[in-house]
Amino acid sequence: MRTIRFGVIGCGLMGREFASACARWCHLQDMDVRPELAAVCDKNDAAMEWFTANFPGIELAANDYRELVAHQGLDAVYVALPHNLHEEVYCAVIAAGKHLMGEKPFGIDKAANDAILACMNEHPDAFVRCSSEFPFFPAVQRIGDLLDAGAFGRVIEAEGAFLHSSDLNPDKPINWKRMLAANGAYGCMGDLGMHVCHVPFRAGWRPKNVRAVLSNIMTERPDGKGGRVPCETWDNATLLCEADDGAGEAFPLTLKTQRIAPGETNTWTLVVKGTRAAARFSTKNPRRLDLLEYAGGEQVWQRIDMGHETAFPTITGGIFEFGFSDAILQMWAAYLHELTEGQPLKRFAGCVTAEETALSHRLFTAALESQERAATVAV
Ligand SMILES: NC(=O)c1ccc[n+]([C@@H]2O[C@H](COP(=O)([O-])OP(=O)(O)OC[C@H]3O[C@@H](n4cnc5c(N)ncnc54)[C@H](O)[C@@H]3O)[C@@H](O)[C@H]2O)c1
Repeated sequence: MRTIRFGVIGCGLMGREFASACARWCHLQDMDVRPELAAVCDKNDAAMEWFTANFPGIELAANDYRELVAHQGLDAVYVALPHNLHEEVYCAVIAAGKHLMGEKPFGIDKAANDAILACMNEHPDAFVRCSSEFPFFPAVQRIGDLLDAGAFGRVIEAEGAFLHSSDLNPDKPINWKRMLAANGAYGCMGDLGMHVCHVPFRAGWRPKNVRAVLSNIMTERPDGKGGRVPCETWDNATLLCEADDGAGEAFPLTLKTQRIAPGETNTWTLVVKGTRAAARFSTKNPRRLDLLEYAGGEQVWQRIDMGHETAFPTITGGIFEFGFSDAILQMWAAYLHELTEGQPLKRFAGCVTAEETALSHRLFTAALESQERAATVAV
C-alpha cells in the first residue's frame, strides 16, 4: 500500500471533511494507495485542536502556511481557505514541489486563476486538481456511464442547479462567504458554481455565450457585534448558456446557483434531456434516479433505487444509502487514484482539472458582464 503524506491548510468545514475521509480510508476496498494526515495549518489555534486531538500522527501544527509548505516529507497539500488566499497559497504549494488539491473557485477571480495555471505550467510535475464531490453520487455516476455510452442521443437541453437556503434568514450574521474582499465578485457563483459546471464540462459541453440574471436579495446583514453591514455579494445566479455539445450542435444549458432558495438546504440537481434518453437526479432524494429511455414506443419514466453503486468499491452493501461524506470519500479516492495511476478510473470519476476551473472563470466573468450590460456575452 503506497502512502501519500498530506498537509491541510485551512482547518474549517472542508479541512475536517478531508481528515474524516482519511480516518475511514479502510471503508474503501481495492485501493493500493492511502492518505496519511501529517501536518495541519490554521491561523486559529482552536481550529487545529480537533485535528491534533483525533490524529496522533500529526507532526506539525502551524499558524503560518509557509511553515507547512516548507515541511519536508509531505507529498501533497489540501488547501481549504477563503477565496482571496487561493492564488498565493496554491502557488506556494505547487512551487514547493508538492501535489495540490485546491478548493473552488480556484482563485478569487479570473486573474488569480490565470496566475495559478501559469504557476502549474512552470511546475508540470505537480498533480493539481480542484475539489467537487457531487458527481460521485451513484446516480450521477450512472448518468456519466450513459453519457460515455452516447445513450442520450443528441442533447436537447440540460440543467444543473445547486440550491441553499442558508441565507434566507436576514438575521444570520455576515461571514467571509458574503464579503466581496474574501469571497470575490462572483458571489454565489464562486461559492457554488464549480459544483454545477463539473458534469457539463466533463461531458465536453462548452458554453459559447451566457445571459445571466444575478440577484442580491439581502443587501445587509448583522455584523455579529450589534450593528449591520452591507452584504454586497450576489445571492442567486441563473445562467442561461448556449452550449456546444462537442459535436458542433448547440443546446440550452441552464446553470443555477442560489444561496436563497426557500426549502432547499444543500440540493444539487442535474437534468439531461436527449433524443434517446432523459435523466433527472437530485440530492434531495439521493438514492433515486429517474430515467426515460426512448426507442420509439411509449415514453416511460423509470424510477431506479440506486443504493451504493460507487465508482470506487466500498465495504457498504449495494442496497444501502449513500450520502455527502461518502461522496467526499469517493472524491478523495479519485484524487489519489489519478495521482498514482496517471489517469482517472473513468471519465466521470475524476476530479475537476485546472483547465475546467479556467473555463468556469471565463463563464463567471462573462456572467458578471452579462448582468452589468443586461446582454448576452460570449464566453
Ligand atoms: N467542496 C465543497 O463542497 C465545499 C464546501 C464548502 C466550502 N468549500 C470551499 O472550501 C474552501 C474553504 O471553505 P470552508 O467552508 O472550509 O471555510 P471555513 O471558514 O470553514 O474554514 C476556513 C479556515 O481557514 C482558516 N484561515 C483563514 N485565513 C487563514 C490564513 N491566512 N492562514 C491559515 N488559515 C486561515 C480559518 O481560520 C478557517 O478555519 C473555500 O474555497 C470554499 O469555497 C467547498
